[in-house]
Amino acid sequence: MKPPITIIPGAAQGQAVTPLLAPAAVAAVRRFHQSLPDYQPTPLVSLPGLARKLGVANIFVKDESQRFGLNAFKGLGASYAMATILAAYLQLSGDPLDYAMLTAPAVRQQIQTLTFITATDGNHGKGVAWAAALFGCRAIVLMPRGTKPCRAEAIRAINGTRVEITDLNYDDAVRQAAQLADENGYLLIQDTGLAGYEAIPNAITQGYTTMAAEALEQLYDRGIAKPSHVFLQAGVGSMAGGVLGYLAHYYDQAPPLTTIVEPDTVACIYKSVAQGNGQPLAVGGHPETIMAGLNCGEPNPLTWPILRDYASFYARCPDWVAELGMQTLAHPQTSDPAIVAGESGAVSLGLLVALSQDQNLTSLKAQLQLDYNSTILLFNTEGNTDPEGYQAIVG
Ligand SMILES: Cc1ncc(COP(=O)(O)O)c(C=O)c1O
Repeated sequence: MKPPITIIPGAAQGQAVTPLLAPAAVAAVRRFHQSLPDYQPTPLVSLPGLARKLGVANIFVKDESQRFGLNAFKGLGASYAMATILAAYLQLSGDPLDYAMLTAPAVRQQIQTLTFITATDGNHGKGVAWAAALFGCRAIVLMPRGTKPCRAEAIRAINGTRVEITDLNYDDAVRQAAQLADENGYLLIQDTGLAGYEAIPNAITQGYTTMAAEALEQLYDRGIAKPSHVFLQAGVGSMAGGVLGYLAHYYDQAPPLTTIVEPDTVACIYKSVAQGNGQPLAVGGHPETIMAGLNCGEPNPLTWPILRDYASFYARCPDWVAELGMQTLAHPQTSDPAIVAGESGAVSLGLLVALSQDQNLTSLKAQLQLDYNSTILLFNTEGNTDPEGYQAIVG
């Protein structure tokens, strides 16, 4: 028997969401991204055939596998945060930050000896390596135990970046990166908050809002002012928090019904909500999941309050749900376009399919208020980042 999906509702508390994610506050983030040489909005793909089959009005997939040629959305956060670090280092003042300003010959000379360090389960590290190469700096990337060699290789291939697969879980690898930064004068560029370390992860979270802003514009161009449902995958929750915080501002404290989606073995946001005291909870040990990008056991303390206060549901998904999503997107049984989605990118779509097709899950579908009026927005946060695994699952 397949292990079950579990979903709990949120208890939206309607508190003010951080002003850092207000559209006016992040307009400069978008302008910075637009100044990058490889910037293009990623496609918003409509899947009308699948929507009909599942009994909903619309399904839109924002395909982040096409972001900056990196196969995942994470370059958005890494590039913007790196720009803010460089601007502070160079004592540049004023908005807006832009690529030309940070790559002028005199600036390049001043920053070329800088080394950034981070821990990653893959995509963020690749984004950091890419952003460091853009600005002519160096990067060191630590990865957790169990990392597939192909993911490390993909990072090394960018500018000869130094990559080490450690014997630590993701959260301990983060602490090790912070320690190495302290000891060696490296610049820590981490996508989760630590005690006394907030500005950079906050800039990373702000960086992710560009994909939400693009998606809302693309929906608007198709005559949709507001999706009814959004599904957001979470590791530490920086991406989900950034997008949901942006949506909460954009829709005046009433975001679409948003479900936070995690692997069942490492569902730290779900468990934090379930314990009911409003505090984040860490899942320790060495959890296993094919969703490598979501294999993080400790919520980002900076985005946790947004997820706690504004999400409507929290879902724990076994690996088969990610596989179902990958297969459905790769082999549409209608005239819908095919989408290449990796494990962490596809799990939300897999959840939607499972809820709509499995008779045993009808009550969960009803709980989520999914019906023929629903317009659903999903983010395919990664493409094929593990070719062997992809082949085995998708065929
Ligand atoms: C493909 C993919 N999707 C989603 C996420 C989740 O992002 P976060 O860790 O900010 O929750 C990650 C994180 O690495 C990822 O790689």
